[in-house]
Amino acid sequence: MINMETKLGPLKLINPVLAASGTFGFGEEYASLVALEKVGALVVKGLTLKPRQGNPPPRTIETPAGMLNSIGLENPGLEAFLSRELPRLRDAGVAVIVNIAGDTEDDYITLARELSAEEGILAVELNLSCPNVEKGGILFGTSPGTVGRLVKKVRRACSLPLIVKLTPNVTDITELALAAEKGGADIISLINTLRGMVIDIHARRPFLGNITGGLSGPAIRPVAVGMVYQVYRAVKIPLIGMGGIMTAADALQFFMAGARAVAIGTANFIDPFTIPRLISDLYAYLESQNLSSMEEIIGAAHQQL
Ligand code: SIN
Repeated sequence: MINMETKLGPLKLINPVLAASGTFGFGEEYASLVALEKVGALVVKGLTLKPRQGNPPPRTIETPAGMLNSIGLENPGLEAFLSRELPRLRDAGVAVIVNIAGDTEDDYITLARELSAEEGILAVELNLSCPNVEKGGILFGTSPGTVGRLVKKVRRACSLPLIVKLTPNVTDITELALAAEKGGADIISLINTLRGMVIDIHARRPFLGNITGGLSGPAIRPVAVGMVYQVYRAVKIPLIGMGGIMTAADALQFFMAGARAVAIGTANFIDPFTIPRLISDLYAYLESQNLSSMEEIIGAAHQQL
């Protein structure tokens, strides 16, 4: 009997394949294609207290084996999320994780508190890693002191499982992971995008309206696998790994590096059926290896040393 159920500290999921924040919106555009209730969890687009229009266009560009985005956390804000998106997701039986972002520490605290009072939310993911905003996001995510303090404050306000999403744009990601763990995070998700730039040589200026953007897709996968591997050795709390996963074989690298679940991002834009395909391919992998759950391969790459 194969069991795809996944436990991440206090969080229980039907399977370990999540939709990464910002790549599945609030699920509406995918609802006619994918059985949303079968997705391990949908991490919704980064939510802020007030609606945000995001950055000036162009906001995306394809790059070798990936893409750059500088969306700037466009979202409808808390009120519209609670009145419009959440009831629809609840009715559809979707496992919802809410990625939250803010300009100030208080924004994060208020969001976490308000969301904790709502039915149908599985967990909160603190976005301390968006590279495309002038306030908050990555600015809260690169110093262990700031991460530790903010996580501690949000922890007090949040009765839901707390995930902290880390940026790779640092010298040593383990320091941030340790600070998040010490602050009271239940789970760490990694990695968000790597800051980068494309220059339009005809216009002789940066292509993106926001000048820089965040790089995602297969180009960043080895960086992500390496960071999951490092963080797994540093902390005791469970990890959600992401960064350029396109196939079950890619996902297996993350499990073997130490992730207990994986999130699919850029691949959703190329093939909206990536998540259901991965779930069944991972199932087939376990069957072929005579394994009964992913549990048996988590961190396997560490045992070979
Ligand atoms: C964005 O909205 O700019 C991307 C979100 C993120 O990187 O967290």
